Amino acid sequence: MKKNESHRRFLVTGGAGFIGGNFVAKVLSEELGEVLVLDKFTYAGHRATLSGWEGHRAFRLVEGDIGDRKLARQLLLDFQPTYLVNFAAESHVDRSIESADDFIATNIVGTYALMDEALSYWSDLTGEARQTFRFHHVSTDEVYGSLGATGAFSERTAYAPNSPYAASKAASDHLVRAYERTHQLPAVVTNCSNNYGPYQFPEKLIPVVLLSALEGKPIPVYGDGLNVRDWLYVEDHCDAILAVLAHGNVGETYNVGGRAEMTNLDLIHTLFDCLRDQADLIREHTEYPTDIDYRSLIEFVADRPGHDRRYAIDSSKIQRELGWTPKENLRTGLGKTVAWYITHLEWCREVLKDNYDRRRLGLEKKAQS
Ligand code: NAD
Ligand code: DAU
Repeated sequence: MKKNESHRRFLVTGGAGFIGGNFVAKVLSEELGEVLVLDKFTYAGHRATLSGWEGHRAFRLVEGDIGDRKLARQLLLDFQPTYLVNFAAESHVDRSIESADDFIATNIVGTYALMDEALSYWSDLTGEARQTFRFHHVSTDEVYGSLGATGAFSERTAYAPNSPYAASKAASDHLVRAYERTHQLPAVVTNCSNNYGPYQFPEKLIPVVLLSALEGKPIPVYGDGLNVRDWLYVEDHCDAILAVLAHGNVGETYNVGGRAEMTNLDLIHTLFDCLRDQADLIREHTEYPTDIDYRSLIEFVADRPGHDRRYAIDSSKIQRELGWTPKENLRTGLGKTVAWYITHLEWCREVLKDNYDRRRLGLEKKAQS
């Protein structure tokens, strides 16, 4: 996508979350267009993630639910987006084990309501606006289930979600597909592997490890720690979404991944290496000691129920057809991420405050009220 395409208007749902926040920063800093964020500010969405953009002439933020049809309709009509990029979701597997209520409400029902409003909006467009509009649904590789020791998920892999989170994302992907096939809504879906980078809420593996290591607290490793994830730096994911918006084919899905597979244990040890490399930064920005033997903090804990063993993404389609390729490798991306957390502990404190006490989640299903 080219700079100064200021006529492009991005309606970004979930823009106060991890990936959405990075996407907004990319669009605004690269002057790709105007941004309107719609976010419910759940436990995972925070104004602090977007505070750098407050007052920016091309940025607006609205608090609300993607399932609020009246609000969605009004925003679509007022803002006249070129693109609607749907990041809004409940995103944490462990929380979906305790209760899937919010996952069904937002990821399935909310996405459906938003998409139905997008269809009405698009149906009334004419000319170039009608040609260019895209409903971009941001999804996950978890819809494909779990792999054995070899192989990778391609766009042709059958869906086999294992967690309530993954099942809710799979359902929404199917609805998006059906709206394109049935109503010709110009929709695209990307299925991405594990993201890492700045502004990830401290409930996911990498920020959990970094905060615990800095504080000298136990680092919980689920099961044997040999589950494999395919890690991608968040900015590379944002670039992939921009490439699909600009050049992707309507009705298609694109798998996005880093070809950076690692067991959780190897990843954790790499994070320890990064922390040791950045001991000066830790001393400069924090009160934490730097002489901790981080390895001694590892604590093997009960496994996640239904824990997927291995994910790996075959992203040859987006590489071949759209020329996208990740810019960061795991070592450079993790280095940046570790530096960001060391220098943004205040952001961590702010998003956790009165919101999440960092206890282990997802060991059992909670009784419903
Ligand atoms: P996140 O949990 O950090 O952020 C989600 C955002 O959505 C938050 O700002 C939250 O307030 C908002 N939100 C939740 N429910 C909403 C609702 N009903 N209406 C409006 N806003 C609502 O999530 P993330 O990690 O940034 O993930 C973003 C998207 O990318 C999700 O759809 C997720 O499934 C997908 N994804 C994530 C990863 C990953 O590794 N994090 C990988 C692949 C795909
Ligand atoms: O693959 C894409 C998915 O990646 C996204 O769709 C999800 O939104 C995102 O949360 C992520 O899901 P994971 O379940 O893979 O991420 P998480 O960080 O929760 O866990 C990564 C691995 O680390 C997983 O094997 C579980 C393990 N883990 C996690 C935590 C939080 C631990 O061993 N200890 C922990 O404390």
